[in-house]
Amino acid sequence: MSLLKRLNAEPTPPPAAAPTPAATMPAAAAPAPALNTPPAAAAPALQTPAAAPSAGVEVANDSAGNAKMLELSLAITDRILASFGSQTQIERSAETERLIQERFANYYRQSGVNLGQDQIKALYAMVMTEIYGFGPIQNLLDDDTVTEVMVNGPQMIYAERKGKIVLTDIKFLGDDHALKIIDRIIRPLGRRVDRKWPMVDARLPDGSRVNAIIPPCAIDGPTITIRKFSKSKLQISDLIRFGSMTKEMADFLQACVVSKLNVVVSGGTGSGKTTLLNVLSNFIPEEDRIVTIEDSAELKLAQDHVVRLEAKPAEVDGTGRVAIRDLVINSLRMRPERIVIGECRGGEAFDMLQAMNTGHDGSLTTLHANAPRDAIARLETMCMMAGMDMPLQVIREQIASAINLIVQQTRLRDGSRKVSAITEVQGLESGTVVLQDIFVLEEKGITPEGKMITELRPTGVRPKFTPTLEANGFKLPPSIFGAVFPGRR
Ligand SMILES: Nc1ncnc2c1ncn2[C@@H]1O[C@H](COP(=O)(O)OP(=O)(O)OP(=O)(O)O)[C@@H](O)[C@H]1O
Ligand SMILES: [Mg+2]
Repeated sequence: MSLLKRLNAEPTPPPAAAPTPAATMPAAAAPAPALNTPPAAAAPALQTPAAAPSAGVEVANDSAGNAKMLELSLAITDRILASFGSQTQIERSAETERLIQERFANYYRQSGVNLGQDQIKALYAMVMTEIYGFGPIQNLLDDDTVTEVMVNGPQMIYAERKGKIVLTDIKFLGDDHALKIIDRIIRPLGRRVDRKWPMVDARLPDGSRVNAIIPPCAIDGPTITIRKFSKSKLQISDLIRFGSMTKEMADFLQACVVSKLNVVVSGGTGSGKTTLLNVLSNFIPEEDRIVTIEDSAELKLAQDHVVRLEAKPAEVDGTGRVAIRDLVINSLRMRPERIVIGECRGGEAFDMLQAMNTGHDGSLTTLHANAPRDAIARLETMCMMAGMDMPLQVIREQIASAINLIVQQTRLRDGSRKVSAITEVQGLESGTVVLQDIFVLEEKGITPEGKMITELRPTGVRPKFTPTLEANGFKLPPSIFGAVFPGRR
């Protein structure tokens, strides 16, 4: 008989069963430091007579052993939940935690499995993350060095650490288990996901961004993608320290933002666009009124005078959706001095350009493109999505007169994230948007360890908008732009 069946066949004892004179377990599970370990033990010695009958038999520390532990933890969790009369949740208090400890000891004993002390502690930690956390992936969420968690079906969980994506040996027991955790994430938000509409965007209580998509659309099982909310947002000094940009590039970008140029951050998925947008937004002077517009609030601005707007998905009946575009239009009535749009994905690009061309200078946004030239093409496409039936030439004119600068962010092959180009939009010539690189990234090679050797350098060209920077008090030395003086190198 499987553990699950055996345990569920046992009668559930009355709630106040088995007194625990010396249970010394802490309330919550501690995070496991390593990626490729089963959930770690959080509790010190479990000193219940029920749970420490002997030295115990270790469950092998391999995938079969991990699966066995997981199965046992879920079976115990189900019984604990049932004993509280709940399918999903138990309110957290000192009293409920004490009862959980007691019942854990009981149900563990009834399972007939005889584990060593360390594994009992690990099992308890697993049960606690099932009851109060997000199950097997809780350890990854608690690990500050993990920046992204990707569940590709219940048996394949990847994590990103230091820019590298690695397969972990953490697993859900099966589709039902993963679905239960998705439900745990979205239920408090009043959201729902089912076969009829099998995808959902949500947020964890800490602000981490979650997308879940389930069968039938996710062919290999429930799929979850979590972009973790970093408690400490990267600052400009971090980006310089990491080699993501040079001090000169940072000084130049600061001058551009303060001087109210319109800046687009362009980049691929997960390249660091939002992070860079956040850093650039923090250059906006304190006295400017800022309105931020996002799909899912990720920006964290240092200024006080910030109005934060967030798009809203449709209600269950399909009505009531408030899109980024609606918010951009609404923001124009909010007397903004700066509009910061988290990401342009569609028709809102058109409204943003209108705003930029009608006095709302100094606006910032990001979009998905792999090079500055592609960013222009993407803007054109998005403007067409606005359904205004405008000739392409007119759209190009709007783009050329609205956008001043494109900052290209790239995730390199070695996992590092860098500003790979800072490009001026100079205007329109013979129907084509003219672009001029001011800074570029040059790939020089690769070290034996696989690290990319790159150089971030100015192109030697001063931007045409230099007079605007000067009018705002930025007299940037020609050397910033790589001007070469005779006799000097
Ligand atoms: N310059 C950088 N150096 C190191 N890590 C970075 C850098 N920029 C961003 N990151 C990290 O990379 C991850 C992705 O960053 P971010 O959310 O800004 O990317 P994005 O391009 O906006 O992603 P998406 O396309 O999903 O919106 C985050 O964990 C962030 O902390
Ligand atoms: Mg982003």
